[in-house]
Amino acid sequence: MTESTPKAKYRNDYQAPSHTISEVFLTFELNETRTKVTAISRVKQSGSSTVLDLDGDSIELASVSINGENWTDFEETATGLTLANLPSEFELKIVNYISPATNTALEGLYLSDGAYCTQCEAEGFRRITYFMDRPDVLAEYTTEIIADKSQFPFLLSNGNKIDEQDLENGFHSVTWHDPHPKPAYLFALVAGDFDVLTDKYVTRSGRDVALEIFVDKGNLERANHAMVSLINSMKWDEERFGLEYDLDIYMIVAVDFFNMGAMENKGLNVFNSKFVLANEKTATDTDYLGIEAVIGHEYFHNWTGNRVTCRDWFQLSLKEGLTVFRDQEFSSDLGSRSVNRINNVRVIRGPQFAEDSSPMSHPIRPEKVIEMNNFYTLTVYEKGSEVIRMMHTLLGEDKFQSGMRLYFERHDGTAATCEDFVAAMEDASAVDLKQFRLWYSQSGTPIVSVTDSYDEESKTYTLSVSQCTPVTHDQSNKQPLHIPFDVELYDKEGNIIELQCNGEVVSSVLNITEAKQEFVFDNIMGKPTPSMLREFSAPVRLEFKYSDEQLAFLMIHARNEFAKWDAGQMLLAKHIKTNVTNLKNGGKVELPSLVVDAFRGVLLNENCDPAFTAEALSLPSFNEVSGWYDQVDVDAVCDVLLGIKGILASELRDELLAIYNTTIQDNYSIEHQAIAKRALRNTCLQYLAKLPEQQNLVMDQYQSANNMTDTMAAMTAANSSSLSCRETIMQDYSDKWQHDGLVMDKWFALQGSNPAEDALQNLKECMNHPAFSLKNPNRTRSLIGAFLNMNPRRFHDKSGHGYQFAGEILKQLNSSNPQVASRLIDPLLKFKKYDEQRQQLIRVELDKIKSMDDLANDLFEKVSKALES
Ligand code: TRP
Ligand code: ZN
Repeated sequence: MTESTPKAKYRNDYQAPSHTISEVFLTFELNETRTKVTAISRVKQSGSSTVLDLDGDSIELASVSINGENWTDFEETATGLTLANLPSEFELKIVNYISPATNTALEGLYLSDGAYCTQCEAEGFRRITYFMDRPDVLAEYTTEIIADKSQFPFLLSNGNKIDEQDLENGFHSVTWHDPHPKPAYLFALVAGDFDVLTDKYVTRSGRDVALEIFVDKGNLERANHAMVSLINSMKWDEERFGLEYDLDIYMIVAVDFFNMGAMENKGLNVFNSKFVLANEKTATDTDYLGIEAVIGHEYFHNWTGNRVTCRDWFQLSLKEGLTVFRDQEFSSDLGSRSVNRINNVRVIRGPQFAEDSSPMSHPIRPEKVIEMNNFYTLTVYEKGSEVIRMMHTLLGEDKFQSGMRLYFERHDGTAATCEDFVAAMEDASAVDLKQFRLWYSQSGTPIVSVTDSYDEESKTYTLSVSQCTPVTHDQSNKQPLHIPFDVELYDKEGNIIELQCNGEVVSSVLNITEAKQEFVFDNIMGKPTPSMLREFSAPVRLEFKYSDEQLAFLMIHARNEFAKWDAGQMLLAKHIKTNVTNLKNGGKVELPSLVVDAFRGVLLNENCDPAFTAEALSLPSFNEVSGWYDQVDVDAVCDVLLGIKGILASELRDELLAIYNTTIQDNYSIEHQAIAKRALRNTCLQYLAKLPEQQNLVMDQYQSANNMTDTMAAMTAANSSSLSCRETIMQDYSDKWQHDGLVMDKWFALQGSNPAEDALQNLKECMNHPAFSLKNPNRTRSLIGAFLNMNPRRFHDKSGHGYQFAGEILKQLNSSNPQVASRLIDPLLKFKKYDEQRQQLIRVELDKIKSMDDLANDLFEKVSKALES
């Protein structure tokens, strides 16, 4: 909370810690409102200062002693505890109290539905005790937990269990020791009563690892997919990266109250239950794939994050960008590479590009931070992963893996920087990454513009390329980047032309390094069609004036599925833009037959993976389309997307129906082929639901579905097309699932994205549903998050009622859970994208928030940036 203006921290101000802490002994005497924490640390001065600054937040201090004696030379400040005149080496003992039951921010030690759990990243350990809460202070932890045995039979912490005792009055104590030195943000404690799914894994070198997944009582049969995913992760990291697990036990706890997806605490991951619990009746195929990805992500952190951690929080992308890259590769190796790539690229082109052009724009390694929680962003994670991927593209798999090995040789057991990572990649490969490093410090989305020309006489084909990064809110000076640009050329028959420059065969990955550059290819016998930025080889916007014919040609002939999909998206983009212009001039939505036929071709191509076909038929989202404009006409874009969907539905009706009817499956399985068929069939349903005479399909599917994927597809169709069966279906689902918050989240998300005119009124009523609570981040994100992010028509309603509602909710969340508030506010920060009237209405809400007297740092940082821009 802020009394005066919160202070920013700068990357360039980094200073090594004044002291080191080699060992910590923690004792927790758990109590709902007065948990007693005893922390004994072995501390050593590392510079010349005899003053030790400890971080602390919401701590009630009881006593301080040094080397066993009461110590009085200290001062409690607003942000911590300062000890002075200290000896050069000492044992520090701090006793303090904290209140888990009133901790609604879900940072530090809190209660989630009766179970104690912790969340310490980024700076939550300071809510547990006074400590050097920074990632470059690595200590060996021993943790004793004391609690009532019948209420809290499981007492868990990092590492291995070393002691267990029954105490008086029905209490017990369990002690854990983690042999791997770690920063405080990786500390974890859990206490509660759970059902446990156990298994074991034998590592490549033959060590046994006990695997334990803790879930709410009664949920055991929903934990199997998480366990399979964990075992697959362990195997994959050994095979692809040569990395083995390093403790005797790996625990995962699923909790219902959690601000993010999951947390990689050493040996004791804490997960949002959304990324653990699944069975065919409660979870969709997307949920299953999400669980696999997040289980993998947290497991892969054990090496990229925990064994090698971050020197300071500005280096967050060191572990997050790299670990996202690893989890994407894991999902791609186990499932469909092209479908994974398509979905990852959608995230970059949609929300990440939007972030890059928003008031919150920052490089993947930020320079200035007020609230660290605000920098767990799409830019740090997803663009960070693209930056790692570009290095992978430039080096190739073998050299990249040599780079990884060198990175671990140099930095295992330490806190490193992004620079350390790039240096290891460079040294191991001899690939020059000097200019490439700019990706770490420069924010914004580069635009790569290309023109081409063919010279009949010399048989040469030239690509003239220029790059430019538009100014962002945080940086006015932009330099040319090193952009790997993957290109393929096709002849008239659709054959690939080998790339030659000056008579020599060259790689398909061109190096764009200058503001303007020409690439001349020789021995080209006729004007080719270029396929560019293949595999999305760099996180940039590509500009090239393709004709409709060229794009339709690439949709058929491009050698891989990603390039086919991308051509289809470019074709749609052209016609979405044209239609938006036409609509504003009083025209109506139209689609030339060439476009319709191109998509008919996709539908009829039986050689493609049905999962890919489903992606190829999916229109870009409203949010992605918004990114193409400086100012977006909300109503026109919504109308055009709806109009195009309607045209494709009626023009392709016979094909869609035929596929819908032949892809039905009797039995449910989560094998890729089964998922793929469901994806295609349900994509067809979304189109068919636009045709009045086909709408009975939706109710039929809802009633006959034997799995949540098909149920949800029917509900989504009913909701987004406002069908007459919507009400009945929604009521039936709520009657059936009202006692299961996680399953109700899907229902809340539909209520939030309901395009009907009375949606906001209904949404307010949903907040009184017994399953809803603003205290639960999953519920809040489902209902309110969907309204702000997935309901452009109603959120941006000209009346301003949507904005007012958002402002009210944000004010409440600012006090109870600032982290959740801060994530929800993002759509409001982008007010400059809308017309004058809407801008004014949003500003009013931002001003109200800005003037709150208990405004948390999280919202302060974002709102003040947005209003000053
Ligand atoms: N390190 C976590 C991850 O990427 C992110 C995370 C989980 C987090 N919980 C958090 C970050 C709370 C900030 C605050 O997997
Ligand atoms: Zn992570």
